[in-house]
Amino acid sequence: MPLAKFETMLKRTMGLDIQSIGRPMLERALHDRRGKSGSNDLDAYWLLLQMSEQEQLHLIESVIVPETWFFRNREAFNEMAQLALQRSANASQPLRVLSLPCSTGEEPYSIAMALLDIGLTPQQFHVDAIDISPQSLDIARQAVYGKNSFRGNDMAFRDHYFAFHEHGYALSETVRQQVRFIQGNLFAADLLLGEPPYDIIFCRNLLIYFDRPTQHQAITILSRHLAAEGLLFVGPAESPLIMQHPFTSLNAPMAFAFRQGAPKVQDIAKPPAPSAFKPQPAPQLRSAQWHPATQIPKSAPASVNTPTAAAIEHDGLDAVQRLADQGKLVEAAGLCEQLINRNGSSAAAYYLMGVIHDAADRKQEAAECYRKAVYLEPTHGGALTHLAALLQIQGDEAAAKLLLQRARRAADNT
Ligand SMILES: C[S@@+](CC[C@H](N)C(=O)[O-])C[C@H]1O[C@@H](n2cnc3c(N)ncnc32)[C@H](O)[C@@H]1O
Repeated sequence: MPLAKFETMLKRTMGLDIQSIGRPMLERALHDRRGKSGSNDLDAYWLLLQMSEQEQLHLIESVIVPETWFFRNREAFNEMAQLALQRSANASQPLRVLSLPCSTGEEPYSIAMALLDIGLTPQQFHVDAIDISPQSLDIARQAVYGKNSFRGNDMAFRDHYFAFHEHGYALSETVRQQVRFIQGNLFAADLLLGEPPYDIIFCRNLLIYFDRPTQHQAITILSRHLAAEGLLFVGPAESPLIMQHPFTSLNAPMAFAFRQGAPKVQDIAKPPAPSAFKPQPAPQLRSAQWHPATQIPKSAPASVNTPTAAAIEHDGLDAVQRLADQGKLVEAAGLCEQLINRNGSSAAAYYLMGVIHDAADRKQEAAECYRKAVYLEPTHGGALTHLAALLQIQGDEAAAKLLLQRARRAADNT
């Protein structure tokens, strides 16, 4: 029996693009569920699926990838904690954080530990954690973890917040109390119905399992649940997608963090007022050695679609960035190319060009530009991480890992 209708059903219910996990995994899942449900063949199993929500959940359980661990991409937790600390100074309401998907709980508990570590009291924040998988949530609620959940060298948090347990390490009550687990589907119409928006959302390593239209739908849903100027953290492979929506990168190395809202002209023109959720300046885009503004002749061609020569003079790469942020990718690419032609190669320009190609889904061209940026500036964090993200999507995990290690070393040395 063709599997197409099972694939369509999984995409419709949970957004899954079967290509992201591979067809053999679906075949194994169907074989397993058909047997366990007592269906004679796949036709009978299909009928059962139509009638039983419970069975749909069982099938979903067998195709999900619950891989997670404590403080995965630690830089994201450091960045989140610093921003939360700044915000807490003026906040009258507790900070609201959402982890979706939370899988077996390591991510939301890491958020809670990071916030307690910087000195927030339990009353000053609250974490909601959602996943589609009831089995994963059972594990999360038990909060007893084996060694797979603890990776990396820094285990100070384990000594501090966990106690030995016959099945591993049991998390302290103080941390557990900060997190509320909810079974839910990102695409369900009643997701978080009546809940106020969140200040911070972690949605990491979920979008990679969706096809392009579903990814955009997911980001739109997330932005509805995020407060104005709230923060969104995504996985390393997912950040190029966010740039195609009205979000501003915080340019925090390896944190993959964005603020809701497109960059405002005043954000770029004058230094931002101190605020917890304002983006940091993007150093790569303001390279000291490269001042396109002073080198572009006033005679640069102007048209309805391209900015005037004066604008180019004034803003240089900032003008490119603004066009890209407004979704004017063709104009942004054209202007960026002009700048490269007139001023010669620069890592900043090639990086930005790569981001524009990425946003337009031209993966090959994007990778080429990131490579050029890395060639010109071997420690360019943005180019290294974006290139890693592309390689990860293409399945080259090993190369992606090496690039991320390089980016981390570069960040540590700055
Ligand atoms: C790889 S884990 C990511 C966990 C964690 N965010 C991290 O980065 O370590 C992916 C999780 O997404 C969940 N998931 C898949 N589709 C979902 C959906 N439509 N709504 C909510 N959760 C979903 C799966 O159950 C799985 O636990």
